Amino acid sequence: MKKYLFVLIALLQISCKNDNPLLKTVDETLKLAQEQYITLATKTLQYKGGLPKTYEHDTVVMANSAWWTSGFVPGTLWYLYEAGKNEQIKEYALLLSQRVENQKYTKDNHDVGFMIYCSFGNANRINPEKRYQDIIVEASRSLSTRYKENIGLIRSWDFNKSIWQYPVIIDNMMNLEMLCAASDMTQDSSYRQIAISHADKTMANHFRNNMSCYHVVSYDTITGQPHIKQTWQGLSNESEWSRGQAWGLYGYTMMYRMTGLERYKEQALKIAAYLLNHPNMPKDYIPYWDFLDPKIPHALRDASAGAIICSALLELSQYVPESLAKQYIQVAETQIKTLCSPQYLAQKDEIGGFILKHSVGSLPHNSEVDVPLTYADYYFIEALLRYKKIMLQ
Ligand code: GLY
Repeated sequence: MKKYLFVLIALLQISCKNDNPLLKTVDETLKLAQEQYITLATKTLQYKGGLPKTYEHDTVVMANSAWWTSGFVPGTLWYLYEAGKNEQIKEYALLLSQRVENQKYTKDNHDVGFMIYCSFGNANRINPEKRYQDIIVEASRSLSTRYKENIGLIRSWDFNKSIWQYPVIIDNMMNLEMLCAASDMTQDSSYRQIAISHADKTMANHFRNNMSCYHVVSYDTITGQPHIKQTWQGLSNESEWSRGQAWGLYGYTMMYRMTGLERYKEQALKIAAYLLNHPNMPKDYIPYWDFLDPKIPHALRDASAGAIICSALLELSQYVPESLAKQYIQVAETQIKTLCSPQYLAQKDEIGGFILKHSVGSLPHNSEVDVPLTYADYYFIEALLRYKKIMLQ
């Protein structure tokens, strides 16, 4: 009797999942995204060497592979291949990943992690191959050259030297996944040790009491202590730039996965609580570009921050007790519904093949304002796949 009851409950659970209308929306969106990215990749291959950056004035804007976002289009293609097993998409993912490969030698900024791990990290996750692992390890060697033992952090940027002695930006948390993966691939723990030191010092120095974070913290190269805390892409030094907050949430959630260290999970939980209870967080959970813009509620939204937070919350939901998991998943569902609505989602053949509208690159620099961005698409597709996996497990 008990056995039949279990079978009945299991069947009921499966049928409830199949009744989830959001799963249908997610599948339709993934189908549209595959079509869009075939368009975008086809256009990209007509150019000699670049990779898409954004879409402005009815044109796909290309950038050289040294631009920090070069790994996102190949990475999104890998996710879309995973979703639909379309061989043409795999071919495009391979061809466009190859365009990024040379960036494994990047030593003049920290973005090598974004570039190489979003492209080759996904290639290797889907089809583990030594040639991909060699690229990831080479890139990790390059990134490690930017780590200074006496400071304990990876230097992000080399510009603005008259002001910043040793600038570290919150975005840099995202590069640590590649270092942890390189340690797993080589059995050389030094990459992971660098990542842990970087995450610990960032935890100590980047965050305010309310758990929001600064964008840039520059360290004094003699004392190893912060000497400047500022913004670069936010509204002001003490404002709360949304994408920076999103990088923090994603970064500590990912570092918990890569190290098993509880302190990173605790940090991610605190950042999530700050974000979800923020008085300026809109009801649809797609943040304004900066949480403290006085123009709110008329300030611009940033779909990229929404997509990053969504993907991070879905991962974090897997590490917490059921009631909290439920809350995170409900927020992520609201974000997915919003991003899958015509307000944000492209229609077929719209916006040059990009998927999401309304992201903000850098408003203070009047650069990429209210446009599609490759990283909004990347984390959105990642979030859709994570959501499906959780719902169907
Ligand atoms: N610098 C990376 C970003 O714009 O988030």
